[in-house]
Amino acid sequence: MATAAERDPLELQIRERPVPAHVGIIMDGNGRWAEERGLPRLEGHREGSNSVREVTRTARRVGVQALTLYAFSAQNWSRPADEVAGLMDLLREYLESERQEILENGIRLEAVGELDRLPRFVRAPLEAVREVSAGNRGMVLTLALSYGGQEEIAAAAESLVQRARAGTLPPGPIDVDTFARELWTCGLPPVDLVIRTSGETRVSNFMLWQSAYAEFIFVDTLWPEFRARQFLAAVLEYQHRERRFGLTSAQLPK
Ligand code: FPP
Repeated sequence: MATAAERDPLELQIRERPVPAHVGIIMDGNGRWAEERGLPRLEGHREGSNSVREVTRTARRVGVQALTLYAFSAQNWSRPADEVAGLMDLLREYLESERQEILENGIRLEAVGELDRLPRFVRAPLEAVREVSAGNRGMVLTLALSYGGQEEIAAAAESLVQRARAGTLPPGPIDVDTFARELWTCGLPPVDLVIRTSGETRVSNFMLWQSAYAEFIFVDTLWPEFRARQFLAAVLEYQHRERRFGLTSAQLPK
């Protein structure tokens, strides 16, 4: 029997068209959400983890194959030390509390970024959930942690140079596919939809390569208030966009 969520009119509408295979989210506005309420910024991040839980559940339910969440950028290390420490604590709490839900829902947890910069108390539970969920095939949930798109592209170039020096790179041109295999996101489909919350209309170093042909949706909602309905509305808007990948409208399959 269909659950109440599956009978939701918005969700029923979404099920009629293909859903984006890979959704990336720039979760912005936690600080402003807290400040508007006279709360410490960390309370905004804490409420933001509830949005993470709800959006992940919803994405899984409607059949998104890959969800990538920008949880901490390579540049976020420069924030005040207490905010960085609080975010690291939250990540550890999230990894410990969500482990069961991730496993029960067939989700595979992944992470991209300069992971060796994370404190051990985050890396250890991250590696544990990654390992235990490695065989799951439901949806790949990727946390972008200490992540930067420029850093990722530079690391891929560096890796190709190393391989060329070591003689393990077959001779020939470096084409788009060869390059993409060196990225931290190797194996994930290209990003179809990028959502950014909080009214900012910037990319902020997120998935620069992978979002080459993504549709972008910017919403005014602050991340702690971005829940199932807002996510479903963004997917519906995506489904009504015409994606041309450099072709003309007339060339697209009808
Ligand atoms: C940007 O909002 C948000 C972040 C830098 C952190 C995102 C973290 C979470 C949503 C919670 C922890 C993550 C997981 C995966 C459990 P901001 O602080 O820049 O907001 P502002 O622009 O209003 O100040």
